[in-house]
Amino acid sequence: MRKLSPPSSSLYTGIMGNAWWKETTVYQVYPRSFQDTTGNGVGDLTGIISRLDYLQELGIETLWISPFYPSPQQDLGYDISDYCNVSSEYGSLEIFDRLLKGVHERGMKLVLDMVLNHTSNHHPWFLESESSRTSPKRDWYVWKDGKKPEGKAPPNNWRSMIGGSGWHYHRHTGQWYWASFLPFQPDLNYRNPEVKQEMFKVLRFWLDRGIDGFRLDIIGSVYEDPLFRDNPFTWKLLPDENNSGFLFRSHKRTQNHPDNFSFARELRSLVDEYSSPERLLIGETFGPPDVLRSYCGRNKPDGLHLVFLFKSMAIPFKAGPFRKLIEEFETTFHEPFIPTYVFSNHDRFRRFSVLGEDIRKAKLNTVLQLTLRGVPFIYYGEEIGMRQGRIPPKDTRDAVARYIGTVPPVKIRLINRLNNGAVQRDGCRTPMQWDASANAGFTVPAEEAWMPINDNSVWVNAAEQRDRGDSLYSCYKELLKIRADYVALRRGTLELLPEKELKKELLGYIRSTSEGENVLVLLNFSSRKRPLGRSLSGFLPPGGTQHLLFSTDDDRTSENLFEGPLVLHPYEGLIVSTAPQARTTHHQGQARSASGQYESSIAQLPQ
Ligand code: GLC
Repeated sequence: MRKLSPPSSSLYTGIMGNAWWKETTVYQVYPRSFQDTTGNGVGDLTGIISRLDYLQELGIETLWISPFYPSPQQDLGYDISDYCNVSSEYGSLEIFDRLLKGVHERGMKLVLDMVLNHTSNHHPWFLESESSRTSPKRDWYVWKDGKKPEGKAPPNNWRSMIGGSGWHYHRHTGQWYWASFLPFQPDLNYRNPEVKQEMFKVLRFWLDRGIDGFRLDIIGSVYEDPLFRDNPFTWKLLPDENNSGFLFRSHKRTQNHPDNFSFARELRSLVDEYSSPERLLIGETFGPPDVLRSYCGRNKPDGLHLVFLFKSMAIPFKAGPFRKLIEEFETTFHEPFIPTYVFSNHDRFRRFSVLGEDIRKAKLNTVLQLTLRGVPFIYYGEEIGMRQGRIPPKDTRDAVARYIGTVPPVKIRLINRLNNGAVQRDGCRTPMQWDASANAGFTVPAEEAWMPINDNSVWVNAAEQRDRGDSLYSCYKELLKIRADYVALRRGTLELLPEKELKKELLGYIRSTSEGENVLVLLNFSSRKRPLGRSLSGFLPPGGTQHLLFSTDDDRTSENLFEGPLVLHPYEGLIVSTAPQARTTHHQGQARSASGQYESSIAQLPQ
């Protein structure tokens, strides 16, 4: 077997040690849609506080909250007009402090979303910048003269990430400003040291308050080519997760410019001034994994701690493509780096819908995500299988969807591909389905939620799934508990089982610690039974006690599991272990009855 991630124990200082972020599990809350407590149909920070027990019980360790700063909400918070405050719609700084305290009291961490690349065009800095060519803040944004007589054509061929020119003409001052995303999100000019200094103050403002890190919005777009050269031609018609160039134009000069890698190192130095605990930086980046690695560091880990690797969202749900993906991530993000596994977020199609709303596939996907070597990101509602909402065009709130409404239909299909099928991002932002009541427990029954609630909330909701041992929620909860308890899953090495030793549509890997704990994970991506072709013991190192830890299948028992040839059930995810000491079986459907026994057996284990 090929060792993909050689151990480097010096980097791991123990389960409660300073590399907490390497072992954590992150849950993304979209504050607008999580829990309303004021009765205005919009979620708020007090609502998040009221659900912290739910998150703790689920087994979440780190919370990432999408932006809640003052904002005109044109891009629902990703257009900030005041970086050091809380929008009154969501609460106040005082409520934020209570939230932070509540998170820390539960032994969890809090990561904030930070949009460094651009501000809202309503931000006082931009208002000042656009007021005249001689404004002291003119150079805080990226302004250029246009081409053609009287500058009436954009300065160059750069397109925004959405499509269409990213340059916007400003009639009053006769120049163009650059916006990587939407026109109301002008890019800040980090080549001006004052801008950098001011934004570093913003980061310190929150770090001093005690937050545990930042998720950095489109961080690969902060620096563009300083010479403003055109983006080159490419043969690419359609974009993909490795390359966002499309319609025969690359993004070479506007995305992943090397100055962004140096910026990542500067950001790391800043957060490293804050220790105990170490603060985390997660970059939202786009491109091939080896390029994205540059954000974390080339020869040593001196950049961002983590970057999102969105490639996992785009590959077919099959053993072969996942094997290749894991190999690529393990090779590129080998120790001391670590990959991330993300399948949903507030910009993309909900994973449950991508998987055809098939609960067996969703459970298998969860086993994969929570047992690989990497930091998993769970998007609110993913744990109960919330579907992509079907939002009628009249209810569209998403600025991207509105913007492309002005683009000819032929281009829409292409842009749809660019954004992984989610050009209308409202569908993944519908309110959390807490219970079967009117408005799903998200807001008071009499109020209309800001976004239509999925009509399946009567039977798909957290309250119903919490009480049912075979639900998707219970699958997440049990796996998160196993992940928390098994050091091999939190920080062990990963070895893929050789492809030639496994039948088609099977994927397997072993996570191990140098102390002799081994966890074997087997996944059947087929809708049919698949024989393993040999006994389970044949895959596990000899010695220790072999044990069935988890199966997505209620019918799986440990009887004869290790002796005879094994047959995996359709879409079954199976986890077994050898440990220096016996542990108790923990598998779906029997979790309730087994949990007391499980806990007492875990309590005796040496940590
Ligand atoms: C990121 C965010 C997205 C936002 C965009 C502009 O991609 O995830 O929601 O619209 O940046 O800030």
